[in-house]
Amino acid sequence: MAASISGVGVGLGLSCSTKLSKTLPSSRSSGFRVKMTVSVEDKKKNYTLQKSEEAFDAAKNLMPGGVNSPVRAFKSVGGQPIVMDSVKGSHMWDIDGNEYIDYVGSWGPAIIGHADDEVLAALAETMKKGTSFGAPCLLENVLAEMVISAVPSIEMVRFVNSGTEACMGVLRLARAFTGREKLIKFEGCYHGHADPFLVKAGSGVATLGLPDSPGVPRAATFETLTAPFNDISAVENLFNSNKGELAAIILEPVVGNSGFIPPKPDFLEAIHRLTKENGALLIFDEVMTGFRLSYGGAQEYFGITPDLTTLGKIIGGGLPVGAYGGRKEIMEMVAPAGPMYQAGTLSGNPLAMTAGIQTLKRLKEPGTYEYLDKITGELVQGIIDAGKKTGHAICGGYISGMFGFFFTEGPVYNFDDAKKSDTAKFARFYRGMLEEGVYFAPSQFEAGFTSLAHSSEDIQKTIAAAEKVLSMI
Ligand SMILES: Cc1ncc(COP(=O)(O)O)c(C=O)c1O
Repeated sequence: MAASISGVGVGLGLSCSTKLSKTLPSSRSSGFRVKMTVSVEDKKKNYTLQKSEEAFDAAKNLMPGGVNSPVRAFKSVGGQPIVMDSVKGSHMWDIDGNEYIDYVGSWGPAIIGHADDEVLAALAETMKKGTSFGAPCLLENVLAEMVISAVPSIEMVRFVNSGTEACMGVLRLARAFTGREKLIKFEGCYHGHADPFLVKAGSGVATLGLPDSPGVPRAATFETLTAPFNDISAVENLFNSNKGELAAIILEPVVGNSGFIPPKPDFLEAIHRLTKENGALLIFDEVMTGFRLSYGGAQEYFGITPDLTTLGKIIGGGLPVGAYGGRKEIMEMVAPAGPMYQAGTLSGNPLAMTAGIQTLKRLKEPGTYEYLDKITGELVQGIIDAGKKTGHAICGGYISGMFGFFFTEGPVYNFDDAKKSDTAKFARFYRGMLEEGVYFAPSQFEAGFTSLAHSSEDIQKTIAAAEKVLSMI
């Protein structure tokens, strides 16, 4: 199991009391293209975002909030979203020419680095044959075989176009298979924007502090029950008061949508046992953790095999994709093999399959997850050390290429703990880091991602920037 910044009494909890044994190189490099003395109050000196601001002002009249996904907005950190021009490796460039080290990675897919040369070359080859067939293509078999051989719970897979679609499909399937309707989800977990999941949801819903969304019919969420993450007795109580009615539990095995929150050591095992004892299905939503924590996802990493799994992000290598899969006897209920209906015009299209195949090929090479673990550990430890040195309450953790930190002493075991974080301080930190050329997700309640393209130099520059910014906020 990979190292993490250990919490009090819990191997993967979030606190700062235990230091990693790994030591950091002492040299601190500098030399960003975007360079200035950070002044969070008086921002923008030679760091300008004029073109970005103009483009975003125009966008606000064209698209709601100027964006096509609310998580891209800067509502919780202040200022306007930065309009990007290009990405390569671990870096991004905005339309004003500013360069950033990127820890968003397109919200997860860019695990081998942005615009990887081999992925681009493979896409160019595939494109010569067309972009969508609306009929079976060989590449679907290739990616399906790769996913099935990698992810322990998946014997059969259905490709869709997004994580949201995957979660919608998997819920319908769990209900069809069990003949039951009730579902348990956890507070602060996000499973896409379909109606039944918009109850105490994470990600943009948490960042914007939204209540359950208007437009979601009461009937759609009536069967959705919630419990705090890492709280086994709350789950037991729900099973006891809904005997024989629960179709499934769905969870992010490591929460990434209310910040980075790992499970307590016995949590996943207990949930697994409770589903078995009660005839319900266990669904791991691995849209974020799949192929990120390890090649076989969180289920391989923790050694717990769920009944059903959702995937997305990485398996599309930067193109729109999602998938759900599980045991054959369950998956054979999906149309046209069985009666549970779910379909998609562009599902399994050759471009998404190609980018996914190339990305997984790279990830399968020896040493990839060890590398992610090493650089991410250095990054998180460096930021926490910098925070401690400058007198801030801060805690954080990581597994492989997924990480997070909160401005609170911790430990953080669930969304309520996460909400204790000083989000105003995070906003100041965020804006200061932007000026230093470091791009984190614009919310305290989102995990961060590293990639195989992040170099030690990137990490050291980020830590140096964090030291500088943390000493000024
Ligand atoms: C765990 C999880 N499930 C589902 C989704 C929804 O995926 P998409 O945004 O592709 O619809 C996300 C998106 O971030 C996610 O993190």
